[in-house]
Amino acid sequence: MMTVNPFFLLSESVPSVLIQGFVIVMVSLVIIGTLIDIIHKKNVKYFFDNAKKAKLSATKELGTSEKISVITKTVIHDIATTSELGAGKRRLAHVLGMYGTILFWISSAVMIFCYTSLDSVTPNVWPILWHIGAIMTCIGGYWFWFFLRVDVLSEAHPWYRIIKADLFVLALLACATFGLAWSFTQSLNLVDRWDDKVFLILYIISNLVLFGGVYWSKFAHMFYKPGAAIQKNLAEADGSRDNLPPPAEAPEEFGLGIKREEPKHY
Ligand code: HEM
Repeated sequence: MMTVNPFFLLSESVPSVLIQGFVIVMVSLVIIGTLIDIIHKKNVKYFFDNAKKAKLSATKELGTSEKISVITKTVIHDIATTSELGAGKRRLAHVLGMYGTILFWISSAVMIFCYTSLDSVTPNVWPILWHIGAIMTCIGGYWFWFFLRVDVLSEAHPWYRIIKADLFVLALLACATFGLAWSFTQSLNLVDRWDDKVFLILYIISNLVLFGGVYWSKFAHMFYKPGAAIQKNLAEADGSRDNLPPPAEAPEEFGLGIKREEPKHY
């Protein structure tokens, strides 16, 4: 199962151009959903207006090399490791899910566009990466869903309470789970049975929900968060600090109360 390209087997019954068309439609849905989100929320306009305003209080003009250095550090440290989530389980779960998803998507695209013609031979590395990516997404995502979500961890809501904000994580998990189940049932060679087709249909539906739901879900955070991290670090470096006051020089004294319980009532 781990070394079989599931899209190649699919291309024996569905023309590969249709499978490739599906991917192109999904990418277009992400672009359209994000653009509508940007227009509706005006978040990017606010972001640039705010950055322009903050620039007026900059104490230092950054040169190109300084800007490149700040951006590189931000990409390597803040974005690639999602440092915003601090040290601990939340960050580990996110990093697992994020890299798992990236592996899953890249290997899907490579297998679909390069290895679905009848005379092609898929190098083992791509299906292996696809399966590992899906497994990593499931580990990180289910860990987050069952144990780390703020509503469950801090607000004592049961894990099965679903709200609109869960659309992204649930659709992502559905894609990875049904993708794995589809590949597994395919590997059983169930020629005249229906199992693998059911999981294929569920896999298609979850992709439609994930990529078609960008406007309503948290999908676009993967574009906004890196932009915001870069802007924050540039504002730190040029002294404008987004018009926020510098941290106090006094030691952090919060009294003993803060030690009584981990802060978790948001
Ligand atoms: C392929 C890329 C990514 C994937 C698949 C992904 C996935 C996720 C998921 C599933 C969640 C939980 C959503 C929820 O609250 O229901 C999440 C939350 C979050 N993500 Fe991402 N993410 C990606 C990229 C990024 C990047 C690049 C950053 C930051 C630079 C980032 C920062 C965050 C933060 C701060 C949260 C909130 C976490 C929490 O509430 O515990 N993500 N992400």
